[in-house]
Amino acid sequence: MDQTEKPSFFITTPIYYVNAAPHLGTAYCTMLCDVQARYRRASGYDVKFLTGMDEHGQKVAEAAEAHGMTPQEWCDSQAPLFKGLWEQLEVSNDDFIRTTEPRQTRAVQRLWERMRDSGYLYKGSYDGWYCVPEETYFTENQVRKSDEERGAEGQHLCPDCGRPLERVQEESYFFKLSAFQDRLLALYDEHPDFVQPSFRMNEVRSFVEGGLQDLSVSRTSFDWGIKVPFDEKHVTYVWFDALLNYATAVGFADEAPEAKAEYARRWPAQCHVVGKDIIRFHCVIWPAMLMAIGEPLPEHVFAHGFLTVRNSETGQAEKMSKSRGNVIAPADVVERLGVEGYRYYFMTDVTHGEDSAISFERMDQVYNADLANSWGNLVSRALNMSAKYFDGKVPELQEGWAARENPLREIALGIEGRYAEKMEALDYAAAKDVVMELVHAANHYVEDSAPWTVAKDPARAGELVDIIVNLLESIRICAHLFAPIMPETSAEVLRRMGLAGEAETEDLAAACEWGGLAGGVEVTKGDALFPRLATKK
Ligand code: MSP
Repeated sequence: MDQTEKPSFFITTPIYYVNAAPHLGTAYCTMLCDVQARYRRASGYDVKFLTGMDEHGQKVAEAAEAHGMTPQEWCDSQAPLFKGLWEQLEVSNDDFIRTTEPRQTRAVQRLWERMRDSGYLYKGSYDGWYCVPEETYFTENQVRKSDEERGAEGQHLCPDCGRPLERVQEESYFFKLSAFQDRLLALYDEHPDFVQPSFRMNEVRSFVEGGLQDLSVSRTSFDWGIKVPFDEKHVTYVWFDALLNYATAVGFADEAPEAKAEYARRWPAQCHVVGKDIIRFHCVIWPAMLMAIGEPLPEHVFAHGFLTVRNSETGQAEKMSKSRGNVIAPADVVERLGVEGYRYYFMTDVTHGEDSAISFERMDQVYNADLANSWGNLVSRALNMSAKYFDGKVPELQEGWAARENPLREIALGIEGRYAEKMEALDYAAAKDVVMELVHAANHYVEDSAPWTVAKDPARAGELVDIIVNLLESIRICAHLFAPIMPETSAEVLRRMGLAGEAETEDLAAACEWGGLAGGVEVTKGDALFPRLATKK
């Protein structure tokens, strides 16, 4: 089908600050989007999956200085780390935006002009607090709340992350965010699923109900940013720049006819996936910016929780972050579980709306129980039996086999619908449960039907064919359903069953219908897909 005839599905990750190498937390967020992008491609959507790097602002400028580089040199040196990791983790992004690219400069400058024309911009001066690690302004009131928690030297500390704040006094342009309170509340009323999961909506709503302050959107005390086109001593506040990336990447402010067509087709985005720490930027500031310039609003913002690790001294779960020095490098998990085991653990064992404590012990447990002992074992048993009893092949299919009742067929009927509902809500743990139900049932079916006994009796040859065919058919369906999470091993399973051509389906519902197996084709036994891990590594 021509791509443009399919419905568009535009999904984005936050763009990551280039102050440090990517870690498990950033990889987690990117993977959440990747699984959705793969699922949507398989379900017939024309997907655009965007990720990238947030390269401006004080934090990045300071990181560059600490490494003795110019900010641009520093960002250029970091880009391969991000791109390389996404490639290694099988992230299938279609675009990678960097905010230092000309397309972003052009878009941000156009935003300034449109903001000025909208009447929601004015010049003033900012006098208040600023958290550099979070690139966020705080008012005197917000800071006062944390007075009692002043740092050792009596510094003011960030009410969000607890790190010391800077006092900023500078000339600045302001965006009249305060004018959007009613319209934002109306948006939340009319689109209760704008923010997901739903409990996050309450948090956003009460923040807006509490009243909105105008937002300082330009800075004059340093220069690492996009210049305001009509007042060049100002550079754009990094969030005002960064949020626009989503629209830039689909052609905002690009006058070329193809870009205009792309923008009309792709904007608004269907889903911005973000961490819960940046929900206000995405659910308050970003929609208000779009309202101000008269552009459509994104359909959904999905906020995930943090990956946490247990602090061995205090016993408390802490957010994994570079500044706390408690990050686990993705490479350590890849080495332990392989890329597909890594993806499976983070996508199915972590609850996506909440904070989740992760541990190597749990990773090993999930890998061994689900992948080595259940899914991997099922595949190898079924392929081995097929090869052994049917001369290296899938048995020839018997008349009417697909309509014959059996316990696996019963579970498989309608399985894609049950799974799709969970996938669309980004509830990958529940989607996995739908698939694992069939995997577990198939493992029991092997035991219950005892094909090794049936094989000894020539009078039961037809029965043996059906047992093996039912198993292989279940495996074929599970491989399709696991593919968004574990693309390589699913493709490998299909290849071993002589179905390599099926792996890139664009009609998952049809692919998962009971009865799609090909009979008589060669089977490849191959090595274990998920070799069992020793309990401690
Ligand atoms: N540059 C901004 C985003 C701009 S989007 C227009 C930014 N960057 S960030 O690199 O600090 O964080 C990006 C995302 O990574 C955030 O959504 C954040 O929640 C996520 N994570 C960072 N550490 C994390 C964990 N420990 N766990 C899960 N996600 C975390 O904010």
